[in-house]
Amino acid sequence: MRVVHDPQELRSFPGGAFVPTMGALHEGHASLIRRAKASGLPVCLSIFVNPTQFGPKEDLSRYPRTLDADLAIAERDGADVAFVPSVDVMYPEGIEEANRVASTLPLPDVATKPGLEDRCRPGHFAGVQLVVARLFDMARPAVAVFGEKDWQQLKLIEAMVARAKVAEPARWPELRILPHATVRERDGLAMSSRNRYLTPELREQSLGIARALQVAHSAQRPATAEKLMRETLELHGFSLDYAVVRDADTLLPVGDFARPTRALIAARIGPADAPVRLIDNAAMTVWS
Ligand code: PAF
Repeated sequence: MRVVHDPQELRSFPGGAFVPTMGALHEGHASLIRRAKASGLPVCLSIFVNPTQFGPKEDLSRYPRTLDADLAIAERDGADVAFVPSVDVMYPEGIEEANRVASTLPLPDVATKPGLEDRCRPGHFAGVQLVVARLFDMARPAVAVFGEKDWQQLKLIEAMVARAKVAEPARWPELRILPHATVRERDGLAMSSRNRYLTPELREQSLGIARALQVAHSAQRPATAEKLMRETLELHGFSLDYAVVRDADTLLPVGDFARPTRALIAARIGPADAPVRLIDNAAMTVWS
């Protein structure tokens, strides 16, 4: 596996399978790499903790950085190239200006649906959109693999690529987004780089998320599913950002389960001054 820091070195790599990450790799990332490998294309993994997607009060400075271990996992699971750019490479204009640029780029509708990530993390998706677009410009992949755990992010990236195909057809002409199922611990906790912040006690409490998604399945109506999720999360000591059922594609609120819907949760546990924010989601059964 080649480790490259300069985007010029990616020139010999167009048309590959791309896995963007912020490092702190775990089994979930490993399965994204294996999915990319299964495409038969050369695999490029990027590792970049993206400052523009963190709010001023978020965990950018304490976000886990484990480069040596990350490179070992990437190599083990078949990545051909690890792209590890610096902040200056990604944002030559400086972070402040990059944040300004990010905020001027129109976000696809799905990123701004009321009551979801945009309300809780203003500016987050603007930063994700900017960095992923720049990474795509540098890597020029044929496919890019994104985990379903960040469901709204996945929908944003799909919409961004679909929009580019119409508005800028020469930009990423062959790019396809491959969604990949969430990888879970044996007890149901979705794998996340932030799980390493959990003390044994918080780890126990964190099971509330998988349990909330499970109880949601017993409900006949979305409103009941939302109530059951809220109750389960509160019982496990979570403060809720949201626990909702939405249309799986538009992320609009729904009144029944007649179309594919998704239960989406974001909730915090732990000390008020440094809570751990966990997100997860699950497909609900379609009842026609
Ligand atoms: O999902 C992530 O790890 C990040 O949001 C991404 C897509 C790598 C952009 O920084």
